[in-house]
Amino acid sequence: MSFNIHLIAGARPNFMKISPLWHVLSNGDWCQPKIVHTGQHYDVEMSDSFFEDLALPKPHFALGVGSGTHAEQTARVMIAYEKVCMSDPPDLVIVVGDVNSTIAAALVAKKLGCPLAHLEAGLRSYDRSMAEEINRLATDAISDILWTPSRDASENLRREGVSAEKIEFVGNIMIDSFEMQRDAIKKVTLDHIKFSKKSFGVVTLHRPSNVDMHDRLQAIVLNLLKVAKSLPLVFSVHPRTRASLDRFKLFPKLKHRNIHILEPMSYRAFMALVQNSLLLITDSGGIQEETSYLGIPCLTLRKNTERPVTVTEGTNQLVKLDFLSQQVSKIVHGASNCGAPVIDLWDGKTAERIAQSLRKRFDI
Ligand code: UD1
Repeated sequence: MSFNIHLIAGARPNFMKISPLWHVLSNGDWCQPKIVHTGQHYDVEMSDSFFEDLALPKPHFALGVGSGTHAEQTARVMIAYEKVCMSDPPDLVIVVGDVNSTIAAALVAKKLGCPLAHLEAGLRSYDRSMAEEINRLATDAISDILWTPSRDASENLRREGVSAEKIEFVGNIMIDSFEMQRDAIKKVTLDHIKFSKKSFGVVTLHRPSNVDMHDRLQAIVLNLLKVAKSLPLVFSVHPRTRASLDRFKLFPKLKHRNIHILEPMSYRAFMALVQNSLLLITDSGGIQEETSYLGIPCLTLRKNTERPVTVTEGTNQLVKLDFLSQQVSKIVHGASNCGAPVIDLWDGKTAERIAQSLRKRFDI
């Protein structure tokens, strides 16, 4: 019987991370990868469209846990995934990223004595008020194999006392997804966007620290209106953000001729939009990486980042809200010296390195 690997995915950013792995692993005959979709994200735009764009098969196991508090969501994944592990015992569980589904499945795997690998290990914001930082720390603490996207991440793990043989610097899997879809992304037409190429900024925001509190979200809306005076904006609104904008009655304030509101977008459509934009305003982790890879300026509305390589070697800047329009102006007036930087092992071959890593480690 071939080596049974469970690939766990739950939320939007996970799908881009399991896709290249699925394609590489399912091409070989030495293992049998299976996709476990926890259902943390479930809308067509947050989930199904990603399976379609990334050419992923229907999940082998769909847990359908849905939304809830952190405890509810984590607990529901644990209860449902334990049942899957009982009926289809994996030889290895691979978890990716830092969402609630990541830590939930990791705990189940380890408590059943199953080998556990974490892809995108070692990232640290050193901000424990972020749910993701807790998920990252806890997942890394119990993983047997820690695949890191950058050298600083490997260094963080070494500093925390993780033994060297568990840590492997494999590069950034998100870049594999982009490279696999590059031609398809090129074919996407942006006719529905009313602004011309490279003359607009793209906005995405969903972190609780930015969108859950009225005063902060109101300040963000006012600053986006200020920015829109000099640069048209396309704002793809995450469901969490949409709910807050509605709750705080801020959504109508975004009605402006220079602000184009969109629903969450599929992977290809969103990456096409990013490639055609002048800059990004975001609080997403993945977008800090994708813009760095593509050489597009990224203004991140956060106090910290778990992806410092995007600042030191990429195109990312952490920006205070009060300085946002000033920073945008500088870029509009050509002050950014962005080219596409070359970051070590962000080369589209991470999934291949992982496959090799597994064959070596498990002697298959
Ligand atoms: C989650 C991750 C975050 C990641 C983000 C990407 C955690 C702790 N957070 O945050 O790290 O950056 O995904 O999007 O795991 N909703 C829908 N439809 C969906 C999914 C969610 O309407 O398909 C709404 C629900 O009202 C839900 C809310 O969005 O309560 C938040 O979803 P949730 O998965 O709890 O967290 P995210 O903010 O998406």
